[in-house]
Amino acid sequence: MADPARILLPFDDELVTIPEGGEVLYIRPPAFLPQGFADFPHIVCEQGFKPFSDRLTLENLTVVPEASGEFPMVLLALTRSRAENMANFARACRMVSTGGQVVVSGDKTDGIDSMLKAVKKVYEVDGVLSKSHGKVFWLTPNAAAPEAWEAAVQPKQNAFGYLTAPGMFSPEKIDVGSEMLTAYFDKSIKGAVADIGSGWGYLAKNVLEKCERLTSLDLFEAEYAALEASKVNITDERAAFHWADVTAMDKPAEPYHTVICNPPFHQGRTADPAIGVSFIAAAARIMKPSGQFLMVANRQLPYESAMEMYFKSWEILEQDRAFKIIRARRPLKRQA
Ligand SMILES: C[S@@+](CC[C@H](N)C(=O)[O-])C[C@H]1O[C@@H](n2cnc3c(N)ncnc32)[C@H](O)[C@@H]1O
Repeated sequence: MADPARILLPFDDELVTIPEGGEVLYIRPPAFLPQGFADFPHIVCEQGFKPFSDRLTLENLTVVPEASGEFPMVLLALTRSRAENMANFARACRMVSTGGQVVVSGDKTDGIDSMLKAVKKVYEVDGVLSKSHGKVFWLTPNAAAPEAWEAAVQPKQNAFGYLTAPGMFSPEKIDVGSEMLTAYFDKSIKGAVADIGSGWGYLAKNVLEKCERLTSLDLFEAEYAALEASKVNITDERAAFHWADVTAMDKPAEPYHTVICNPPFHQGRTADPAIGVSFIAAAARIMKPSGQFLMVANRQLPYESAMEMYFKSWEILEQDRAFKIIRARRPLKRQA
């Protein structure tokens, strides 16, 4: 959400009042709440993305990955997944107390206009304001939202037998780059292994199936729902699951022999190679000096200088028009 203060507009203009007492639920808030939220009695943040959740927790806010219960008011910020937004709206209507209001804010690029259109077919909307290439609207729901809105994000088995849901990385088909990386899952992989940014578990499941000498696999994923799906997709006892921000990982007591990764390269809608660079730095921090880091990336992403910075030795094992596979060894000590 480009403008985190937009959701406060109807409160600033005295069109909506903060409920007296009770908790206000805020679904998918941004990492930083603007100053105006200081006037709210108690906010419960539902945030399944660990870096944002950690940031909000630092502000002493109550943060949960999945909220339940009833709230006198529910606020909702849109993400870039339309299906997730409609489902969150339906949940907001389900969790708000009778007579309570739901306030929704989103950018045009996140589909606020089409959502408002769909909502108006079912509910009477109390008000709408526009600001910063987006809108905020509010309503007092008097009935449940159409069942299909929540049903659309229920995890389902995809055509390849994996449990996934809209909003996760490549939910319907196996990512071509990830598939390309699995060709390098061979007997060089042994001992303790980490999959950083593990999504719903495609790389993890493959490395477990192909590498008998692997003794343990730690999956690290920031999106709570994707991590939960991976727990269903992977039943191998060598696997352990961590809801974690990879970019904030410290050097572990027992570093990993191999780290595997298809790094994220988006923050919201914007391509941001800096996230991939943070993943490369994290891999160097958490692996053994004698270990290896195996990564796939979109070919045009400029990760070579990061490899130089964090590893003494690295090579491109393969590249085609879309992807490159990189193996790095000997993490540089200054990164430890
Ligand atoms: C390109 S996807 C790869 C998913 C999976 N490994 C695969 O190959 O299908 C990158 C994953 O990193 C996750 N991610 C993004 N930022 C993260 C962070 N700071 N810490 C941990 N995971 C993160 C995303 O949610 C996404 O699931």
